[in-house]
Amino acid sequence: QNEDKIRPEKLADYIGQKDLKGVLTIAIAAAKQRQDPLDHILLYGPPGLGKTTMSLILAAEMGVNCKITAAPALERPRDIIGLLVSLQEGDILFIDEIHRLNRVTEELLYPAMEDKRLDITIGKGQSAKIRSIPLKPFTLIGATTKIGALTSPLRDRFGLIQRLQFYQIDELTEIVKRSAQIFDVTIDQKGAQEIARRSRGTPRITNRLLRRVRDFAQVKGCKTVDQTLACEALDLHNVDRLGLDWTDRLVLSTIIEQFNGGPVGLDAIASATGEDAKTIEEVYEPYLLQIGFINRTHRGRIATEKAQEHLLNVGF
Ligand code: ADE
Repeated sequence: QNEDKIRPEKLADYIGQKDLKGVLTIAIAAAKQRQDPLDHILLYGPPGLGKTTMSLILAAEMGVNCKITAAPALERPRDIIGLLVSLQEGDILFIDEIHRLNRVTEELLYPAMEDKRLDITIGKGQSAKIRSIPLKPFTLIGATTKIGALTSPLRDRFGLIQRLQFYQIDELTEIVKRSAQIFDVTIDQKGAQEIARRSRGTPRITNRLLRRVRDFAQVKGCKTVDQTLACEALDLHNVDRLGLDWTDRLVLSTIIEQFNGGPVGLDAIASATGEDAKTIEEVYEPYLLQIGFINRTHRGRIATEKAQEHLLNVGF
C-alpha cells in the first residue's frame, strides 16, 4: 500500500544529489518563467541512484506528464514514433538505457529533439520520400549507466548533461528514516546508520535492505529496529559490513584466487563467475571501483590489497 510512496514526489523531498538539484532548480524556474518546456536532459551514473525518480519529480514540478520507456522497448521505428506523437505539449519522455537505442530509432530522435519534427521515410530506393510530421514541444530525459557508449550526435543534443553520484552515509541514513516512516517501522539512529552503511551508496539498495530488516523485526516480534537487529537481519542475507553481497565477494575472490589478483579481462571474470559481463560492469563494478577494491588498467581488472584484507575479515 505504502510501497509506491517511497519515491519522493517533490524536489524538496529528494535527499542528496545536491549539485543536480541545484542545476535543476534553476532550469525549472527558468523554463516556467518563459513558459517553455525543459531543455533535454541526460542523466548518467550507476543504477539505483534515482534517475527515474528525478524524471517523475521534474514532470510533477513542471505540471506535465512523464512517459517512461527503455531503449530495449523501442525496437521498431513505430515504437518511438507512436510515443512521440502521443505526447502533449511540454510532456517529458523518459528513455532509460538510452545507450542501447538502435540506429534507426536514434536517427528519428535527432530532428525530434532539435526541430520538434519527425522525418519518416516512405517507400524504398529511388522512389523513397521523406515526410515530416510536426511534434509538440517536449522534453527528452535520457538515462544511462554508460555515457561513453552514447554517440556524440545524440549526446550533443542534450542541453543538460548531469552525473548522479553515489550517496553519502548521512544522506542514506536520512533516506532510511524517511522510508521507515512510510513503512511504519520504528528505527533508531544507529539502526538507520547500519542499513545506510551497507547500502553501497545506492538508495534502491537502502530501500531493499530496509524491507528485509522490516521482515526480520516483524517475525522476531521486535518493536524497534536497533543496530544489533539490523546487523542480524543483514548478516542473514549475506550482506557484509560494507554492503557487499555474495556476488560482489565472488567477483573479488575470483580475481584474487583464480587470476592471481589480476589483471584479468571482464569476459574472463564473467565466465569464471557465471555472471553476465554487462551486469558485472554496470552493476557490481562501479561501487567496487569507488571504494578502491578494484582498479581498471588497460590490461584488465586488478583486485587491490584492501579487497583481499576485507575478504579475510568478513568471514562469510
Ligand atoms: N528514496 C529513494 N531515493 C530517494 C532520495 N534520493 N531521496 C528521498 N527518498 C528516496
